[in-house]
Amino acid sequence: MLAILGGSGLTQLANLEVTHRQVVRTPYGEPSGALTFGRIGKRDVVFLARHGYGHTIPPHLVNYRANIWALKHSAAAGQVVSVASVGGIRADLGPGALVVPQQIVDYTWGRKSTFHESIEQPVVHIDFTEPYDNELRCQLIAAAQRCGAALSSGGVYAATQGPRLETAAEIGRLERDGADMVGMTGMPEAALAREAELPYATIAVVANWAAGRGNNSHSISFDSLERVLSEGIGRVHTVIESFCEVG
Ligand code: HPA
Repeated sequence: MLAILGGSGLTQLANLEVTHRQVVRTPYGEPSGALTFGRIGKRDVVFLARHGYGHTIPPHLVNYRANIWALKHSAAAGQVVSVASVGGIRADLGPGALVVPQQIVDYTWGRKSTFHESIEQPVVHIDFTEPYDNELRCQLIAAAQRCGAALSSGGVYAATQGPRLETAAEIGRLERDGADMVGMTGMPEAALAREAELPYATIAVVANWAAGRGNNSHSISFDSLERVLSEGIGRVHTVIESFCEVG
């Protein structure tokens, strides 16, 4: 079972032949919505919209624990592909680019970021040297190559708290820290997937230049954001279809 966690611009999977939906409860509360089950090509797929199906849950209020728990235990997912919109920092990551990041720097705070915090449970320190599953990353890149979609491999994802966008100085700091792109939902999602022993990788869709970059020297232009995002998500659909051609 392949799980797909959709972000901004991806509240439903157009190419999913839906078989059923399931409302689930978890020991960590309610996930962002019902799980949507179906099939794409040769794969059984479960889809969940991270921000809710009406896009109403801001990044800092997403119940990341419930989402990952539901995918693992209610849907028996064996892999998680997360789709996330980002701002581009690196010069070649302009609006519309698709990228499979390799590393994360976490700037979020106050989010529930472990499954293991009850006093009866021993503390767990997962290895997070490589935050994304390398095999899954390679499979996504191979899928993009098969269908001729441009998908760059590598780069550092900076996870910020949001929901506001960053200042230009903050983007300068993220860049000095080594970040290539910035988004608000990559953490603690990736760490929780690792705790749950779920292979996890992200397809990041660059929706805009980050603050102070590209043509955003004074403010972020939202004019073309929706169009760029939906066009990028269209290409994500193609990559996922190609990924699912292999059983
Ligand atoms: N910053 C943070 N998160 C984002 C951005 C951004 O510029 N664009 C899309 N998600």
